Amino acid sequence: MVTVEQWQHRLLEAAGQDRWQLRPEGYHVREGLERREQENPYREIDYSSASHRPHTTTSGEWPCYIGAVRRLLQLLPASGLVVDLGSGDGRLSQFLLESTTLDVVSLDIDEANVSLSASRLLPRWRRRWLGLVEDIQLLTLPPACCDAMLAMGVLNLFKPRLVPLLETLAGLLRPGGLLLDAEPTLEGALLYAVARRSVGQFLLTARTATKTTDFDRSDAPTVPVFDSGEMEAALEQAGLELVERHPVSVLPSLVYGGWFHETPPEQADRVRIGEALEQLVSRGSTAARAMIFISRRPR
Ligand SMILES: C[S@@+](CC[C@H](N)C(=O)[O-])C[C@H]1O[C@@H](n2cnc3c(N)ncnc32)[C@H](O)[C@@H]1O
Repeated sequence: MVTVEQWQHRLLEAAGQDRWQLRPEGYHVREGLERREQENPYREIDYSSASHRPHTTTSGEWPCYIGAVRRLLQLLPASGLVVDLGSGDGRLSQFLLESTTLDVVSLDIDEANVSLSASRLLPRWRRRWLGLVEDIQLLTLPPACCDAMLAMGVLNLFKPRLVPLLETLAGLLRPGGLLLDAEPTLEGALLYAVARRSVGQFLLTARTATKTTDFDRSDAPTVPVFDSGEMEAALEQAGLELVERHPVSVLPSLVYGGWFHETPPEQADRVRIGEALEQLVSRGSTAARAMIFISRRPR
């Protein structure tokens, strides 16, 4: 029998207790999400595994993402609540549970993703964790309930109606609370299409400001990308103050996903190139695959 702590009950009740089904794995599912789940381009992902495999795009980018989360933590109190929106397989939620004493809500529209996160929880994290299968667009958490929100790689999906969504998210933050979001950039998507020698994808990205989620599948879904500055403008329009921005270097994706894909080098060279790349990225690079923003609800 799975039990939940008081703080978790409070959040669930505020979000409409009767609409949730508790799964034996210990997460809650909002009823009636099936059709929306189908429309999601990021189903059944496992970024944690890829983040720990050396010399891959994901592992090359991981230090940038985790660096931004560490920076966020410097700006937060030691205890409080962080909501991880579009939490995927939970790699960032797990980092928070492991390295802080914060409570964490992992929320994702895809049940397979939340189920994978739940399976990776250490038992001692359970009382600090709430897993929700929920659509960001239906969020009914109580106003001003959290100290911070992570939205890494997900808000771009709502690009046409971004400002109202950001306004809703801002209302869930306590005054002074922080939003950390990461968005794919147009420039990075164009460079990547060049590295993959895909004229079609380059032209499509340039024309529509979208990118494919999988270069190896012609029927893969596409997702919107952002011009520099577009997201900043949306944050401002929604009443959030920009605190910091951090680029995610485009180099790992160009080298591992682009060049290595086209011309796989010998293993020894792979390692040498990987080491050189890690050093370059740790020194910072200007071309951005994605841009990470920290913004604040005014006090
Ligand atoms: C690019 S992945 C990022 C995963 C995670 N934030 C990370 O960085 O590891 C985007 C995630 O957003 C989720 N997602 C997409 N649409 C959503 C929605 N409407 N509500 C909640 N989550 C959604 C997907 O299922 C996926 O897990």
